[in-house]
Amino acid sequence: MEKGCADQYPKVCQNLKNYDIFHKIMVLKIPIFDGFQNKKTIRTMKVTVVGAGAVGASCAEYIAIKDFTSEVVLLDIKEGYAEGKAMDLMQTASLNGFDTKITGTTNDYSKTAGSDIAVITSGIPRKPGMTREELIGINAGIVKTVAENLLKHSPNTIIIVVSNPMDTMTYLVHKATDLPKHRIIGMGGALDSARFKYRLAEALEAPISDIDGMVIGGHSDKGMVPLIAHATRNSIKVAEFLDEEKMDWVVQETKVGGATLTKLLGTSAWYAPGAAVSSLVQAIACDQKKMFPCSTYLEGEYGLQDICIGVPVILGKNGIEKVVEIELSDAEKAKLTESAQGVSNTNGLLEV
Ligand code: 2OP
Repeated sequence: MEKGCADQYPKVCQNLKNYDIFHKIMVLKIPIFDGFQNKKTIRTMKVTVVGAGAVGASCAEYIAIKDFTSEVVLLDIKEGYAEGKAMDLMQTASLNGFDTKITGTTNDYSKTAGSDIAVITSGIPRKPGMTREELIGINAGIVKTVAENLLKHSPNTIIIVVSNPMDTMTYLVHKATDLPKHRIIGMGGALDSARFKYRLAEALEAPISDIDGMVIGGHSDKGMVPLIAHATRNSIKVAEFLDEEKMDWVVQETKVGGATLTKLLGTSAWYAPGAAVSSLVQAIACDQKKMFPCSTYLEGEYGLQDICIGVPVILGKNGIEKVVEIELSDAEKAKLTESAQGVSNTNGLLEV
């Protein structure tokens, strides 16, 4: 009988197996081993993504490719849409080398039961020229219903809110459910920080892997606060390389990053939003204790009360494990306070 590969080339096959493990640990940074120490290994975690549109499907795709959880359920109200996206994504599994199981369902929340993490992307995206805040009338009702339906079947889940206006939608979930605040996370700052790093790399003509930077404040064209004074190229402050004018350009381009893409695409972006959400999901699922700027309910931190807005937090298996209060200049504090005023004004439009 024809000898199999493993028999003919035992060393090569063993090396390939070793390489696969090396790749997963060193490149995809998946904590293969410490996952086994938890009672519930990361491989048994279930993630639901509500909304199988461009952002939701991209989020599901990146979660699958990073391959750190066992199951992703895509849910949409459009007949067959989530099922189709899930099937299409599963047909990439052998090509992209992941074992994550992606399934789709048309508005059947029983299929989401027992989700450890639930991402809400449903609602309408903005059109060119629109602000995120203009979506509140339609998206508030959708997000409230989705959150209630999710909790009926997954009472212990951690909710990540993506739908816009995101800070106000996060606040709405907080007010409409009795979930503890550490289990309600708004995704905006992770995306805005990715765009900030992109613009910094462009201005510095540097590889993005050299860049670090964070955006706090509201996820809005006017309310974002890119922390340019803290940004670095390989630990050196960017002010050592860029003049005031160039730094202002980076800040301004970051703030309108979403609007720039909406103008080019005719609708909201989806790759970077999906990737940003998948990073938050991974930090929770793998208990990474990573720091991200996320929208979270504040009770005095940064001098702010009764608001959800982007500040640095530590993400781990319990969701938001800590709000990190960093030293801000007077100018940065003033910008954050002004941003909070804008978010509060939008919150005022809610009928919670
Ligand atoms: C964005 O900034 C959709 O709000 C998201 O692209």
